[in-house]
Amino acid sequence: MMSSELKKRERDVPDQTKLDRSGLVALCAASAVVPDSPVQAIVNGFAYAVFNLDGRYYVTQDLCTHGPGSLAEGFVIDDEIECPFHQGRFHIPTGRASYAPCTEALRTWTAREIDGMLYIDPGETP
Ligand code: FES
Repeated sequence: MMSSELKKRERDVPDQTKLDRSGLVALCAASAVVPDSPVQAIVNGFAYAVFNLDGRYYVTQDLCTHGPGSLAEGFVIDDEIECPFHQGRFHIPTGRASYAPCTEALRTWTAREIDGMLYIDPGETP
């Protein structure tokens, strides 16, 4: 990936209010995210998509890199999410664009489950 693309996507992620010294922010309850039904979580105005693949949780940006599609409204096919807008696809664990017309990867974060809640560090290095 070109560094200019990475910098652009980093700018797309707003500063987040940290919940504690760990730097983590809460997205939603883990129990709310069931397989095949991604959840949109909005934190400080930024929308994340939260996925459950066989009991493992993954977090990507919710906004498709191709256009206005919300990936939380898309369709999970194996370990990919199909955008509801133009049916492009992304590999959920890595964010890699896997099917046209999508070509630019999604930003991803490591999901951490703590006491039944899912957290991310929004400043995590991609
Ligand atoms: Fe997602 Fe076009 S907006 S594939």
